[in-house]
Order: sequence, then C-alpha cells, then structure tokens
Amino acid sequence: MNMEEQHYQLLDGKAVSAQMKKEMAEEVAKIKAEGGKVPHLAAILVGHDGGSETYVASKVKTCEEIGFKSTLIRYEDDVTEAELLKKVDELNRDADVDGFIVQLPLPNHISEEKIIEAIDYRKDVDGFHPINVGRMSIGLPCFVSATPAGIVELLRRYDIPTRGKHCVVLGRSNIVGKPMATLMMQKAVPGDCTVTVCHSRSENLKEMCLSADLIIVALGVPEFLKADMVKPGAVIVDVGTTRMPSSQTKSGFKLTGDVKFSEVAPKCRYITPVPGGVGPMTIISLMRNTLLAGKKAIYSE
Ligand code: GUN
Repeated sequence: MNMEEQHYQLLDGKAVSAQMKKEMAEEVAKIKAEGGKVPHLAAILVGHDGGSETYVASKVKTCEEIGFKSTLIRYEDDVTEAELLKKVDELNRDADVDGFIVQLPLPNHISEEKIIEAIDYRKDVDGFHPINVGRMSIGLPCFVSATPAGIVELLRRYDIPTRGKHCVVLGRSNIVGKPMATLMMQKAVPGDCTVTVCHSRSENLKEMCLSADLIIVALGVPEFLKADMVKPGAVIVDVGTTRMPSSQTKSGFKLTGDVKFSEVAPKCRYITPVPGGVGPMTIISLMRNTLLAGKKAIYSE
C-alpha cells in the first residue's frame, strides 16, 4: 500500500436517506392517526428530459413511501411561460398543496427566474426563491435547497468535524455551489468552515483543492477531481451525476460523478459514492422540506 493510502469510509447517502425516510414515515403516520393534514407536494415537469423524468419519478415515489400526498403536473416542451405562470398561481392559492416544485431546467423560451419568483416563498420547498435564499444567507429559518441541505445532513449524521476547517466548493451554481458555500461558512454545526469557492475561471484551483480538508465538487464535469488534487485524509463530497452512455446497464446509461473515485478514494478519509451518495440525500431533503411545509413549521401562514 502506498504511504499516502488509507482506509476510507463511504458516506452512505442511501443508508442515511433510508433512515430519514423511516423517521418521516413514522411522523406522517402519527399525523394521520391524530387527524392532522397529510403533507402534499406538487411537481411540475415540462418536457421529456431523461434526467428530469427520473428525478421527478423518484420524488413522487418517495412521497408515496413516506405517506405524503403528491400531484404530478406535466406539460409538453411548447408550453408557454404564461400558461406555466398561471399554474404556479393556481398552486400558490390551492390550500391543499403545502409545497411545490418546478423541475429545472426549463425550455429556453421560459424564464426560470420569472417562474421561481412567482412561487409563493412559503410553498417553495426547493428553496430557490430569492426570499428563501436571502433568509438562508443571514441565518433565518427558511427552506434550504435540497442538495446543500442533504450534504449538510450527511456530514452531521457521520459527525464529520468541520469547525475551522478549509472547505473548497467547486462550482458556483445557484442551486448547489453558492448555497453550499453559504452553509459551510455559517456559524453552525456542521459549518464554521473557511470556505473557498472555485469555478471554471479559477486560476489556482488545484492549489486550493490541495489545501482543503473538505472538497465539495459540483461542476458537472465527469471525473474532474483527480488524486493529485487531494490532500491525504480529506473528505470528498461528489455532487456530479452525469448520465454517460453505457452498454453495461439496463437503462443504457451510467451515472458518473465529478470525482475520479478509483484513484481519489484511497487517499481520503471519507468519500461519497455515485450513485448512492448525494443523490438520495437530495430527494430526502426535499421530503423533509415538504414535511416542514405541511406542518407550517417555517412559515406559520
Ligand atoms: N434540477 C436539478 N436539481 C433540481 C432541484 O433540486 N429542483 C428542481 N426543481 N430542479 C432541479
């Protein structure tokens, strides 16, 4: 064994999310037994993008498993922005719907910003509305977007020390990189990190990564992070889920992460697998937000 190699531990998002699912199913059963309102999640899916189809199907299935009510609303690619805005308005006013999401990406002729801003922030279980993003950045109760929330929960459940550590976030998207950086620098546990955000224009990305205790990779570039960019003993979280064609799977594709797992894993202390790491934590965090929305736990009216 190479001197730098050590025994790494997988951050098993599949197992943690199964445990969270069980906890939530018990809570919903209790709500039902007491005659309370069953949380209701609605999802809008536009078009037939393979990834979006899979994610939304998985969200609906998980709702059923937990005992939530779910509604799937589908549109073809040629739906107009006005039609979509009308549906958002309808869902905003539907008292039975506790939370809803509009699956992204949307076709080019529709402004994602406009749609997101039209969602009532009290039903924005994706945490994409500027009010939720703003509240998160100043540490107020809000819906936190599912992927960053799921990663924080995974670090919490494995008791990974983060205070004072250097966390490098690769990627600056509105739905992962930016909120992830915000959460990791928050005065909280997990949190309290010194955070560096690197992206496609960063000149010293490799040096930054080499000094990181924790690297969260959300670039969408398959196998971007190599072993020579990782400090021995680091914690690696892989958000990548690129669908690569494969002749070895029934579906005809294979999910590929942003980390070259085979060479990075032996160098680190903890690492998330793909699939089975961040993906299941993202879905379960959306469910957690739906439960909070159903209970009016964040916004009371
Ligand atoms: N597209 C990729 N990730 C997400 C997500 O978390 N929510 C929605 N609505 N769309 C996405």
